[in-house]
Amino acid sequence: MTRTAIEVSGLRKAFGNKVVLDGIDLDVRAGTVFSLLGPNGAGKTTTVNVLTTLMKADGGTARVAGHDIATETRAVRAAIGVTGQFAAVDELLSGQENLQLMADLKRVGSSNGKRIVTELLERFDLVESAQKPASTYSGGMRRKLDLAMTLVGNPKIIFLDEPTTGLDPRSRRTMWDIVRDLVADGVTIFLTTQYLEEADQLADRIAVLDQGRLVAHGTPDDLKRQIPGTHVRLRFTTATELDTAAPLFTNSTRDTEALALRIPGDGGTASLRALLDRLDEHALSAEEISVHTPDLDDVFLALTGHTTKVDAK
Ligand SMILES: Nc1ncnc2c1ncn2[C@@H]1O[C@H](COP(=O)(O)OP(=O)(O)OP(=O)(O)O)[C@@H](O)[C@H]1O
Ligand SMILES: [Mg+2]
Repeated sequence: MTRTAIEVSGLRKAFGNKVVLDGIDLDVRAGTVFSLLGPNGAGKTTTVNVLTTLMKADGGTARVAGHDIATETRAVRAAIGVTGQFAAVDELLSGQENLQLMADLKRVGSSNGKRIVTELLERFDLVESAQKPASTYSGGMRRKLDLAMTLVGNPKIIFLDEPTTGLDPRSRRTMWDIVRDLVADGVTIFLTTQYLEEADQLADRIAVLDQGRLVAHGTPDDLKRQIPGTHVRLRFTTATELDTAAPLFTNSTRDTEALALRIPGDGGTASLRALLDRLDEHALSAEEISVHTPDLDDVFLALTGHTTKVDAK
């Protein structure tokens, strides 16, 4: 039997007359990664704030680690770790001092505390900068320190609010590896992100949040079945070239105005070579060739009929 780590039913939250969460239902199995995917202002941080008891819901119920968020706040807090969207490190303290402070707050005991701090500094590759004030850390180092602080006390459920926004690709991968290690240790991760790729890489299940409502919910594969896949885009210099090329590729769609042809495919070298050979056979050449992988905008367009850049009413 699988245990449920987070159970949410009909969750509602409004600020004044602006409804931000409009009846959210969720189920997160213990030991899995759940990703809440959504653009700016979708309500991701609000969901995290409510589930971590930082904010009260207006309606609905939620249990985290088996405890009611409304009536068992203390027990919920004891079971979880939260890494907020904006790093919560003390700039004046060093990395080591920040971790030590957290160990003291969590009352892990002084000898235990020292050991935990040393282990975390090593695990997050922060040993060299451990004595320097956090104000001198890069954004990526700060995020790592913030997550390290969350891990003091071994929470079984961890909320990560956009852990990789603003990180370079390498730091992003480091963060992903850390998340995978945590899950391998049996931790449950509730992660918000604006990146489809991140949710795809990490999550067992994804929910897509749009203006306070879940518009999709399933495995990454479920979701990808609903959105247009990877495609190659060929741009030509003349309409005649586009007219000649279009019938050569079945399932292709044409953008007459841009003189472009959109061809579904995996974007791999073999299919690209075949595609270019096909053009060659007909003495055609493209002005530009690009491979397009689906992103959050494609997801939104497919699921909601609008892109992520919708202004709130
Ligand atoms: N304390 C608050 N008072 C009033 N409005 C708020 C408050 N917090 C959030 N909102 C509004 O609620 C909506 C959702 O905000 P939220 O921070 O949950 O979005 P988000 O999905 O986390 O966005 P982002 O990707 O930008 O972090 C926004 O329109 C925001 O302006
Ligand atoms: Mg947010």
